[in-house]
Amino acid sequence: MKSKTVFICQSCGTRSPKWLGRCPGCGEWNSLVEEVDEERGPAAEPSFAPAEPQLYADIKEAASPRLELDCPEFNKVLGGGAVLGSLILIGGEPGIGKSTLLLQASRDFAAGGRSVLYVSGEESLEQIKIRGDRLGVGDGALYLLAETNLERIIAQAEKLRPGVFVLDSVQTVYSAKLSSSPGTVSQVREVANQVFRFAKTNQVPAFLIGHITKEGSLAGPKSLEHIVDVVLLFEGERDHSHRILRALKNRFGPVSELAIYEMGAAGLEAVPNPSAFFLKERPVGEPGSVVTATLKGSRPLLAEIQALVSTTLFAGNPRRMTIGLDHYRASMLLAVVEKKLGFGFGGEDIYLNVAGGVAIDEPAADLAAVLAVVSSLKNRPLPARTAVFGEVGLSGEVRSVGQPLARIKEAASLGFERVVLPRGNLAALGKDETPGPEILAVRDVREAYKCLF
Ligand code: TYD
Ligand code: MG
Repeated sequence: MKSKTVFICQSCGTRSPKWLGRCPGCGEWNSLVEEVDEERGPAAEPSFAPAEPQLYADIKEAASPRLELDCPEFNKVLGGGAVLGSLILIGGEPGIGKSTLLLQASRDFAAGGRSVLYVSGEESLEQIKIRGDRLGVGDGALYLLAETNLERIIAQAEKLRPGVFVLDSVQTVYSAKLSSSPGTVSQVREVANQVFRFAKTNQVPAFLIGHITKEGSLAGPKSLEHIVDVVLLFEGERDHSHRILRALKNRFGPVSELAIYEMGAAGLEAVPNPSAFFLKERPVGEPGSVVTATLKGSRPLLAEIQALVSTTLFAGNPRRMTIGLDHYRASMLLAVVEKKLGFGFGGEDIYLNVAGGVAIDEPAADLAAVLAVVSSLKNRPLPARTAVFGEVGLSGEVRSVGQPLARIKEAASLGFERVVLPRGNLAALGKDETPGPEILAVRDVREAYKCLF
């Protein structure tokens, strides 16, 4: 039985019985999305008791019960475990390891005595089992279901009543209530809505896997962000072994935490000390390499910025390449180096890279990028065991950044003996008498240059 559907413009709400390329109401292109027609189906929704307004002071704080995962890093990203009855979306590019991550989590839940229903619309049970064998899935109440019809999936889930529900992936499953094909905005929303209802009524955490493209723009997960309780992003470069899991949205916790995993032969392994992981192959005493203390979420992370300045073969049009840093920001920094430190790059190609495939998106790495370029240009390494952070402005001034203490501590914990930082951050450090690394506070790039070269 097919219920009635209607196409609704997502920008002005105009309704149409059939799909149209352009909305007759507002003129927007491609804005009509198929939805189950709720208005004409009065008995479709279960009726809840009407809510009454309550005095703020009378409302009790609900301690939302959480289900802890075996992996402390995953727990932290979720804000202390998965809240019962919450819907958690894990988005990432195809092949990044989403199925692996959730099969591992399912393995641990089952081993801990909690039943899990892992539904796959992508792979056969045999394929999942091959992955499961690599991951060491043992005995326990882990149920697999290969199915793409949403209504049948929910019916099975209602019958089994698992303690944890996983759906892989939201794009491959379809609701028979809609005529649109799987993966369309209408379908992924309907899927999310039904799983959401299942999670709430049964008070189980439900994990949804969603594929997103490099541009992050695919119809699917983006349009789900407001439906689900938690959005996690699983990202990384496919040719690097590490993966980053972080929260984009969390109704039950902060979004500042992140976890780093390494993909190995036996699945994903959490990296307890990310800074050491990213610095482990750093060439020591080489020109052009500078360690910076950046923040990933609320967590400080040491990363190596590398610069290579070499005579260009393209006279008049030298190359400027950046990987892991913002290209426009890097161009601005090069201009500052030319103007304020008096170096000329007209005949040089310049490559800037963050080693290990980390992407840095905060200006606190500016000073390290500047010093890396200068170090490569002069062919002189920075003094050993030195870490650097600070934002650089157009006048060459080094501006203060957030959480200087956390950055210094991270550097100290990995054996750095000297930290170059913005003068403006000195006040925030206070009068800490414990012996730490030597602090070199600088006002501008020229001062930093004089201190280090
Ligand atoms: P997968 O979890 O299937 O990615 P997604 O669900 O996000 O599409 O796994 C992606 C890759 O991980 C796959 O190319 C193989 C690799 N992999 C390992 O290197 N080791 C392992 O133990 C497993 C299970 C996968
Ligand atoms: Mg998968």
